Amino acid sequence: GERRPLAAANWKMNHTSIEAAAFLEALDPGDSSCDIWIAPPATLLPGMKAIIERRNLPVTLCAQDVHEKENGAHTGEISAAMLKDAGAEAVLVGHSERREQGEGAERLQAKAEQAAAHGLRILYCIGESEAEYSAGLTKQVLARQLEAVRNIPANLLDIAYEPVWAIGTGRAAGKEDAQEIHAFIRLEVQRHFPDQSGAVRIVYGGSVKPENASGYADGADIDGALVGGASLHAESFQSIIHAFQ
Ligand code: G3H
Repeated sequence: GERRPLAAANWKMNHTSIEAAAFLEALDPGDSSCDIWIAPPATLLPGMKAIIERRNLPVTLCAQDVHEKENGAHTGEISAAMLKDAGAEAVLVGHSERREQGEGAERLQAKAEQAAAHGLRILYCIGESEAEYSAGLTKQVLARQLEAVRNIPANLLDIAYEPVWAIGTGRAAGKEDAQEIHAFIRLEVQRHFPDQSGAVRIVYGGSVKPENASGYADGADIDGALVGGASLHAESFQSIIHAFQ
C-alpha cells in the first residue's frame, strides 16, 4: 500500500539500560519493509541511540510524553528540544494512561503542536473506555479526540487506535471490529487532511501478541501496531514486526 507499516514498542515504565542493551542485541529487525519504533523511558534514550547508531539498527526512538512548554519552571518535565537532543525522533501523545492522569484535549493539542514545532513525529493515541464502548459511543469519542491534532502537519502524524478496555487486559479487539473502527478513523483523517491523508498511518494497540498480530496485518486500514506488554522482549516484539513485513 501507500503507507509503510509501523511496529511500535511502548515499554511504559519498564527496563533499565542493561535490559535495553540486551534487547537491542537480541533484536532481529527482519527485512526493513516495516518501520520499527521503540518508546523507552526517557532516561534510556541517549544510551539506546548510541547502540542503534553503532549497530546501524533500523530503529527509530520515540518518547512516551512531551511537555507543552518550550522550557522553564516545570520540575520533572522534559521538553521537545531535550527529547530530540537525547535521540528521539517521535513522541507518543495522548496515551490513555496519561489521559487517566488528567491530560485533556487542550493540553494534548498543545503537546502535539509543541512536538511538531520541533519536528518530532507524533503517534497520537485515541480510544474509547469500557463504559463508552458499552454505551455505543466509540465513534463519537474517537472523532472528538481527533480534533486535538487537526492543526498538525499530516506528514508528522500517525494515529494509534487503542480501545482502553483492550490495553494490558489480554482482551484484544477482534480483527474485523478493529478494521471497522480503523476505516472510520481513516474517513475522519481524510476529512481533516483532504490532500495528504495518505501519509497518516493508523495502527492498532491493545493486547497485540505474536499470536494475533497477523490478523490485524490483514486489515486494509490497519497500518501496524502499538505494542505494550509483548514489546518488552525482543523475541515477541520481532514476531509482531515480522507479521507486518
Ligand atoms: O501503548 C501500548 C498499549 O497501551 C498496549 O499495551 O499491548 O500491553 O495491551 P498492551
